Amino acid sequence: MSVPVIVTIGKSTQDVFLKSTKAFEQHEHKGVVYEQLPVGKKLDLDEVTFATGGNVTNAAVTFARQGLHSTYTWCLGVDPASEGILRDLDKEGVDTQHVYRGDEYRASYSVILMLQGGERTILNYKGSMPNIDSPHLDLSAIDNSDWVYLSSLGDIDLLEKIVSRAAKQGAKVMLNPAGAELAHPDRLRTILEDVEVLIVNKEEAQQIVEGNSLEELARHGRHYVPVAIVSDGPNGAVAIDKDKIVTAGMYEDVPVIDRTGGGDAFGSGFLSYYSQGKSLKESMLFASANSTSVVQYVGAKEGILHKGVDLHDMPIEEKDA
Ligand SMILES: Nc1ncnc2c1ncn2[C@@H]1O[C@H](COP(=O)(O)OP(=O)(O)OP(=O)(O)O)[C@@H](O)[C@H]1O
Ligand SMILES: [Mg+2]
Repeated sequence: MSVPVIVTIGKSTQDVFLKSTKAFEQHEHKGVVYEQLPVGKKLDLDEVTFATGGNVTNAAVTFARQGLHSTYTWCLGVDPASEGILRDLDKEGVDTQHVYRGDEYRASYSVILMLQGGERTILNYKGSMPNIDSPHLDLSAIDNSDWVYLSSLGDIDLLEKIVSRAAKQGAKVMLNPAGAELAHPDRLRTILEDVEVLIVNKEEAQQIVEGNSLEELARHGRHYVPVAIVSDGPNGAVAIDKDKIVTAGMYEDVPVIDRTGGGDAFGSGFLSYYSQGKSLKESMLFASANSTSVVQYVGAKEGILHKGVDLHDMPIEEKDA
């Protein structure tokens, strides 16, 4: 089998993590905890970490590190945040030749103030992204791809356009809907007719289908797509296709340093294996291993697993669907 070609499309960000044991003081007032910064002072930081994010660029790095042909397409600017994102992707071997760059776009930028104990305050600049009307977004990469992995497009019309093109060209779609897509559940359910794999966390699943347990939600998701996956943080995840239902626990009970990118590592870990013909169970195991690794590092990309890393068993169960 030749190496699968996977195209990712969606927003990207430049994140700067600021860590200080002294500068940020925690203060509670009327039930809200504040991160206090005295006005007019200069405060020392202990650590600054630059990391790029955006759900699909994190996924693109998993695909590249797993040796697949990983292509990212989007519209970015000439600002330093856009530069940083492209540099990161290029370094990882992600194919970025379809990315348009021009003054009319700016990448999203976040400063993340990290408090001890894992709490954080995020200052976010949204940037300016392409939408359905943007003439610059180059979607031609879809036509030669095996899979299209989508999340955080910020525009349900754009999602519909991309999914239709993929369907017409015979590329399969894996979708991890985010805020803008989940805001239109009726339209989303229609779009799901052309989606092969749906991956959502429990709260997201409950915006699309009825249900309480992961299994119930995954089974209901199966009414719309051939493969449905529902995750629930450290409680694990359930995946179902027409034959099997797989229930995965935690790959390892690890100390969480930074949750960012856990869900992306899970979804992209799954598709890395699934696109290469691995079973639902094998794909869920690698998804779990990849996400468990990512939450142990600051930033969403650092902990992404490389090809050939040794995997071990985990609590995972397969039964007939
Ligand atoms: N604390 C943890 N320890 C080990 N594994 C974890 C932990 N948190 C998440 N995972 C793994 O990551 C998977 C996906 O996590 P989760 O359900 O939180 O996704 P998500 O809500 O989409 O996350 P995100 O906020 O990154 O989008 C879980 O099914 C689990 O395998
Ligand atoms: Mg998620």
